[in-house]
Parts: sequence; C-alpha cells; structure tokens
Amino acid sequence: MQPTLDIPILDDLDQPKQVSVTVDGKLQVYLETYGCQMNVSDSEIVAAVLRENGYGLTHDLDAADVVLINTCAIRENAEQKVRRRLAELRSQKKKHNPDLKLGVLGCMAERLREKLLDQEKLVDLVVGPDAYRDLPNLLSAATDTGQAAVNVLLSREETYEDIKPVRYDTNGVSAFVSIMRGCDNMCSFCVVPFTRGRERSRPVVSILDECKSLVESGFKEVTVLGQNVNSYRDEKEGANVDFAELLYRISLISPDLRIRYSTSHPKDCSDALLHVHAERDNVCNYIHLPVQHGNTDMLHRMKRTYSREHYLDLVERARKIVPGVSFSTDIIAGFCDETEEEHQDTLSLMELVRYDHAYMFMYSERPDTYAARKFVDNVPEDLKKRRLNDIIQLQSGISLEKNQAEIGKEHIVLVEGTSRRSEDQLSGRTDTNKMTVFNRVDFSKGDYVKVRVTDCTSATLIAEPIGLV
Ligand code: SAH
Ligand code: SF4
Ligand code: F3S
Repeated sequence: MQPTLDIPILDDLDQPKQVSVTVDGKLQVYLETYGCQMNVSDSEIVAAVLRENGYGLTHDLDAADVVLINTCAIRENAEQKVRRRLAELRSQKKKHNPDLKLGVLGCMAERLREKLLDQEKLVDLVVGPDAYRDLPNLLSAATDTGQAAVNVLLSREETYEDIKPVRYDTNGVSAFVSIMRGCDNMCSFCVVPFTRGRERSRPVVSILDECKSLVESGFKEVTVLGQNVNSYRDEKEGANVDFAELLYRISLISPDLRIRYSTSHPKDCSDALLHVHAERDNVCNYIHLPVQHGNTDMLHRMKRTYSREHYLDLVERARKIVPGVSFSTDIIAGFCDETEEEHQDTLSLMELVRYDHAYMFMYSERPDTYAARKFVDNVPEDLKKRRLNDIIQLQSGISLEKNQAEIGKEHIVLVEGTSRRSEDQLSGRTDTNKMTVFNRVDFSKGDYVKVRVTDCTSATLIAEPIGLV
C-alpha cells in the first residue's frame, strides 16, 4: 500500500499538528505535534526512526497501538493544553484500549518526567528531544514489561544528521531542514536551553546532502532551522563553515531552490550574512529577527545581549545592504518589572522598524529560568493583557499599511497549493514571505509565478498572475 500523507499545519504554537502518514507496520503509531517548527521537524525524524524499525504510522487515533505527543513548554498555556490532551487520551485508553501505549516526547519530557510518571501516572513513555534513536527500544520495553520507559538524557553531540526525515508534508514544495540543536543563550525568560540542552551544529556535508536530495525530489524551498540558527558553525574535520557560508553553499545547489531560515538572533546577524541575502537571488529577502522588547534596560534583564540602539542600527544596516528586505519579529509584553515607559519603548521601536509581521506574547514565567529564580513576575495579568493588546493593535495597522504599499507592485510567488478559501485560487509566498492568493489559471503547485498585487488584507496579498517565471 502506498503511504497516504496528510498534515494540517497551523501557525499557532498551541495548536496540534498531526503527523498523518499511513505506513504498514507491526504496531500503528499516532503522532501529534505541538510547538515550533523545530518540533515539526523533530516529528519527521521520529517518524523516520519508527518506520525504519518496522512501526506503522497512522492518522486514525482509533487504529493506534501507540500515541505519541511531541510537546512544547514555551509558555504555561502550551503545557496546559498538552496536559488536557493527555488526560483525555488517558481516559480513552482506560475505557476503550487498556493496551494503548501513551508517550510524551519533546520539550515537556525533560522537566516533567518525574511528575508525569510518578505523581500523575499519566504516560507509559517519556522521551526527550535528544533520545529519539532510543524510541524503538523504549517502546519495546514499555510493551514487554508494562512499565513506563524513560530516556530524557540531553546530548552534546546528537544532531540526527544521518536520519532521513519522513516528509509527511503534503505540499511537496517546501521542507524544513534542521541544522543545529539546543541553545546556549539563556535568555532570562526562556525554558528552551533547559528542555533542549546545549547548542550543537550538524555537519555541513549532511545538510548539503539533504538539501540536494530535496531538490531531486522536486522540493522548491527549504527553511533551515535552529533555535539560534545564525550561530551555526561547523569546525569539524577541517571545515570552517559559519552560517553565512552555509547559506551560500545551499544557494549554489539550484537556482530553483528558495532558502529561508528561522530563528536568527540579532547578535549573530553579520554583514557577511546580509551580503549573502543581497548577492544570492534564491536566499529570500526576509529575516525573522526577534527583538523581544524595545527598551534597553529590559533587554538587559532579558539577557538578550543587545541594546535598542544596536538592534535599530542592525535593521538600518540590513535595509542598506539588502534593499527591500522584510522583517518579522517576536515580542513579549509584561516581563518582570516592566514599567509603562518601558512598554512605550516597545511600541516606539515597532513604529521605527515597521515590521511586516510579528508574533506577540504575554510573558509566562517558566520554572528554572533566570527570571523565575531572580525576578518577580509582578506585572498584573490585566495589565499584561492591555499591553499585549496595544502591541497587537499597532502591529495589525502597520501590517495592513505595509501590504497596502505593495498594491501595484510585482512579485514572484512560489505556489504552495490551493488557497484555503477557493478551489479556483492558488496560494504561495513572495520572496519577502507575504502570503499571496491569485487565480489558478493553469498554474500548479511548485511553479514560480510573477504576479501583480491588486488588493490586500493585513495578512494576505491579493494578486493577478502575469506569467510563469
Ligand atoms: N529561539 C528563538 C525563539 C524561541 S521561542 C529566538 O531566540 O528568537 C519563540 C518565542 O517565544 C520567543 O522569541 C519569545 O518571544 C517567546 N517566549 C519565549 N519564552 C517565553 C515566555 N516565558 N513567555 C512568553 N513568551 C516567551
Ligand atoms: Fe530561548 Fe533565547 Fe535561546 Fe531563543 S535564543 S531559544 S529565546 S534562550
Ligand atoms: Fe516549544 Fe520546545 Fe519549540 S519549548 S517553542 S517546542 S523548542
């Protein structure tokens, strides 16, 4: 039987993304993914490890012998959502299928292993992000013994470089490629260094090989991933490849392959990297550059290692070197001790940069972080909400104005598929990462189509097609 592939991917970190690959096997595994793109990419590795070991993958929960939830711990509500889901699954298990094995993977595994296993007895399997090679052993152990199986060891070396991810992404046009794991930055609010361990880079050769094989399979776009992707460095076996050099080398693989990346840290956004954007047509003119806050004292409390002025200089430099580059960002409202003046600095920075898009969050205290140990989460909830709302309102106005300024301009869109609204329309993104819809005519998925923008909303450009590129 041919595998059937189907994966609804939602932008919201708190929403599940289902891995729905149907592959025959001794036991059927149902995999559900929460969190960021790294987790989606990790689930592709998990799917590969399982398939390699004879497990089947199913999108039908009722047909599953094993249910694995790849979890996120970035904010309290992300964790709560997973806990509710686990409780739901556990009650189903009790009622309908006592032999069902229930497992927690990913970022919640690390911290919650004892709680999950001992106090709440919620699950049969707990596997951290560096232990996916061990999944088949752990699954057998849990099945054979009826005891919970755990491996949450974090590694300094694991990059899964030799594992060929199972791409259950249906569009066949764009793919994620993980190039590094972990994070050493220890931003004071962030749990990721604790859930994913130390930063390590994957060998350049294996990254280039994966990108080449994606091109051979017809993919047209890669998004290379890491928590601090632009601190990538491969110094092993005589290599001396930094992120700018890596992107340059990927860009040489095929002029038809577009390259994006996420997430970059302002401290590592070098001029060399900006010049790669400028010189290589297939390295997209788009940078996701999380600022987190607009006030220098606050950035210091957040341990972000740059000031407001440094960040603004960087944006200006990038706009000089890469004309037309677009920016998106992440912003946190209501971090510890945030004053009204500091909050206003975030708004004024947004006015200065004029991001095309932003991901905006209310601060949520995470255990073990520097902020949890040293600061007090003292901005009241309603004030956090109001400030977040100020930020969202401002950004949606800016996004709309920026999109309106595109009306009449031409862009090249890589078609990703049929538009969600209408079968007669296609959707894809511009080089600058703006979602665009236009009439299908006779274009197809994977085509590069030149379009002229005719209208917009704050989230989407509406365009008329001009022709194939
Ligand atoms: N590695 C990336 C982002 C990781 S998490 C980076 O450094 O930019 C994605 C976003 O979640 C962060 O950029 C931050 O804006 C937000 N975030 C992280 N911890 C948070 C917390 N404790 N409360 C609210 N938002 C948080
Ligand atoms: Fe978290 Fe900071 Fe690392 Fe991003 S760079 S994952 S925000 S510690
Ligand atoms: Fe969440 Fe882990 Fe990603 S905490 S945001 S899934 S790195």
